[in-house]
Amino acid sequence: MISERLEKALNEQISKELHSEYYYLVMAVWFTSKNLDGFTNFFKVQVQEERFHALKMFDYLLDRGGKVYLETIKKSPQDFELAEDIFKKAYEHEQFVTMSINELMNLATEKKDHASQKFFDWYVQEQLEEETSMDNILTKIRLVYEKRHGLLLLDEKLSQRTFTVPAQ
Ligand code: FEO
Repeated sequence: MISERLEKALNEQISKELHSEYYYLVMAVWFTSKNLDGFTNFFKVQVQEERFHALKMFDYLLDRGGKVYLETIKKSPQDFELAEDIFKKAYEHEQFVTMSINELMNLATEKKDHASQKFFDWYVQEQLEEETSMDNILTKIRLVYEKRHGLLLLDEKLSQRTFTVPAQ
């Protein structure tokens, strides 16, 4: 059985994940309006990831004998100006989610709830990947705005380097 405090905190986190889903859907809509299909695809996949994050918690909470309380999802801002603006907001949003996951982990540790600690480990790793992904794209978009496209081409070329074991 999960503690009441963790049950409440997990329900709040489910709402945050569903809000993230909605927020990224709003971003996908903006990119659709600009006919930028690749960016739209990126955010549509992100929408699916956020739904997955929420449902994984939903299942865990039920497995632990807790109850799920779904909250109203607040409206997301839609007044974006530039792609850079969107990725800056997405990056900041992921930082906010990371803090929230860290608090859940702190609570599980305080409650000596080892199953929850193990469960939140997955989210800690996931947040690291999500922050890195948003930050990387933001950096590349800034290079485009600064008209330093050559660096992007060079970066693409350098990413293809592989290690070959030297002949003895
Ligand atoms: Fe579910 Fe993007 O954090």
